[in-house]
Amino acid sequence: MPGYEFFGEEERKELNDVITTGILMRYGFDGPRKGIWKAIELEKAICETFGSKHAQLVSSGTAALSTAMAALGIGYGDEVILPTFTFVASFEAVISVGAIPVFVDIDETLTLNPEAVKKAITPKTKCIMPVHMCGSMADLDALKNICAENNLLLLEDACQSIGATYKGKMLGTIGNAGTFSFDFVKTITCAEGGAVLTNDESVYLKCDGYSDHGHDHKGVDRGADLHPFLGYNYRISELHAAIGLAQIKKLDSFLSIQKKNHSILKNILTTVPEISFRKIPDPAGDSCTFLSWFLPNTSIAEKVVEEMKAQNILAGSAYWFNNNWHYVRKWNHLKNATTLSALSEEVKKEVMHHTTKDFAASDAVLSRCISTAISLTWTEDQIIEKGEKFVAAVNKVLGK
Ligand SMILES: Cc1ncc(COP(=O)(O)O)c(C=O)c1O
Repeated sequence: MPGYEFFGEEERKELNDVITTGILMRYGFDGPRKGIWKAIELEKAICETFGSKHAQLVSSGTAALSTAMAALGIGYGDEVILPTFTFVASFEAVISVGAIPVFVDIDETLTLNPEAVKKAITPKTKCIMPVHMCGSMADLDALKNICAENNLLLLEDACQSIGATYKGKMLGTIGNAGTFSFDFVKTITCAEGGAVLTNDESVYLKCDGYSDHGHDHKGVDRGADLHPFLGYNYRISELHAAIGLAQIKKLDSFLSIQKKNHSILKNILTTVPEISFRKIPDPAGDSCTFLSWFLPNTSIAEKVVEEMKAQNILAGSAYWFNNNWHYVRKWNHLKNATTLSALSEEVKKEVMHHTTKDFAASDAVLSRCISTAISLTWTEDQIIEKGEKFVAAVNKVLGK
């Protein structure tokens, strides 16, 4: 996820606008900022680019998830269903609002298996949170139907899938709310930043207040703001928003390079009949930040990973099954509910119960999967060389 690969004059120009006025904060200072409002400009650009009625910028994707959950009214006593394969931020955010993360098996979409979701619903379930991992999407029609039948909220964690679509709509704009991350390794970056997207004005207004201490932002005098509810400081700075503004203008070109590079690599791997690929509910909507491919079984996958490591060609490819950040198997801090400050006994018990379940179905998927990150800077020759080396490593393990 490569926004950082193309950092240049455009970012410098936007940053200079802010540095010239010296007003680094997104709110207030109306006179000295001389008409420079980068965060507001970026929020407008997000709404236009992604087809969302509202967008609230915040300081990170993690903050976007916490803010969205608070704005959707998710909190103590609620359960949020999310996949076993995600980033730690997804469950951190659930716990940050006092709710319980309920992990559910993934399928070959690499995100929520709708049948497993149905089985996990209890009277406490409030929200289903698909995480659109590695540039592609969950089976959103199935999940939307489950939400409608059970009166549940749909919150899309689209932090890793900026610019991907499902049946013509941008990921992040399909549920009650969606979130993006603009951290340094996302499709577009502003170093650190995130956004909540929603078509619901009341959800947006809550995000607006919650991410700035609950200030109501109604008058011109910031110091006179009222506080209709409690909030926190999840604000983005003008410096970060400025970089985001330059990057969002490059999104189309990033996506088209990604798609081209992805297709060259995929065509090479397709020549090996034993390799299969991630199931993509709407293939036209894949943002192609990763190519996720499967080996026939765990043992072959492990040997291919070892062979790739031995040949020094594993860098840039992830074997998520053994990954500390992204898969439930290695989240010992969560399984033991190891927190710096005490959780309530009830929340602690529930968290430990839900995280230590058997996730054999997820193991069966992720233990066969390798995801290769697609770089924007690769030349065609480099992709062909990489693809051919991958094929040779697989064939060696297969004894061909
Ligand atoms: C799926 C997912 N959700 C949330 C986040 C959190 O984003 P941030 O790093 O901006 O807090 C990430 C970041 O990697 C992510 O991959």
